[in-house]
Amino acid sequence: MTTTHSLTVEKLTVGYADRIVIDSLDLLVPPGRITAIVGANACGKSTLLRAMSRLLAPRAGHVLLDGREVHRMPAKELARTLGLLPQSPIAPEGITVADLVGRGRNPHQRILSRWSKDDDVAVAAALDATHTADLADRPVDELSGGQRQRVWIAMALAQQTDLLLLDEPTTFLDVSHQVEVLDLLTDLNAARGTTIVMVLHDLNMAARYADHLIALAGGGLHATGEPAEVLTEECVRAVFGLDSQVITDPVSGKPLMLPIGRHHVSSTAV
Ligand SMILES: Nc1ncnc2c1ncn2[C@@H]1O[C@H](COP(=O)(O)OP(=O)(O)O)[C@@H](O)[C@H]1O
Ligand SMILES: [Mg+2]
Repeated sequence: MTTTHSLTVEKLTVGYADRIVIDSLDLLVPPGRITAIVGANACGKSTLLRAMSRLLAPRAGHVLLDGREVHRMPAKELARTLGLLPQSPIAPEGITVADLVGRGRNPHQRILSRWSKDDDVAVAAALDATHTADLADRPVDELSGGQRQRVWIAMALAQQTDLLLLDEPTTFLDVSHQVEVLDLLTDLNAARGTTIVMVLHDLNMAARYADHLIALAGGGLHATGEPAEVLTEECVRAVFGLDSQVITDPVSGKPLMLPIGRHHVSSTAV
């Protein structure tokens, strides 16, 4: 079982050059749970994840892991506790799947220390869990978008961190692989207590798989809480400017959002 860590954001302001993207945000990531961050394009979801994983320094405020500023922690130390799968990761040219996934072990290796049995076991387990073992010897550049995404997830799993931040981990995947990845993250959370924070575009997948939703809008928090509290017609209108009907998902019992556009809307829907 993993150790539970607290990850909190206090009055965080972060941005690029002269643009503030997130303004004075307060957040608490529930330890040992699955959190999904949702919001419109360009609202700052990736920026928030980057700030939480120390890639982007705050203009003001704090990101605290167990009460310590992440921006003051040595990179390798942080990487043993918190892993990030960015939205568009870039693989070194020509690298094979096995070597890329093996890089997830870097934070666990000391200077000059050899690759250990533990590293082998972690990489094999990560390849296995993501069904990428048969791709192990292939160059990453030659894979399809979906295969590549699963390989990046394998690398994040091989890092074996207690906290895992994933930026749109399902975006390039077909629906069965989306479900597979989200099931896998749920298994990881249940078996190891891994705290998961992921940006998801699909509101219905977010509501189904997350214990806790964070809806961002206008540089701040629009709503946060259990999916049934957050995924409402009012929230969809405020965050996405979209009319919708929210019903109960007959499969999961969670909220299911059905968008209402200008076409293909039956008279009984509105
Ligand atoms: N490296 C960067 N330099 C300058 N502006 C950026 C950079 N990355 C993102 N932005 C801007 O910050 C805003 C938020 O981006 P992002 O966090 O990627 O949004 P999201 O992930 O919610 O789609 C956008 O307006 C985007 O154009
Ligand atoms: Mg993004």
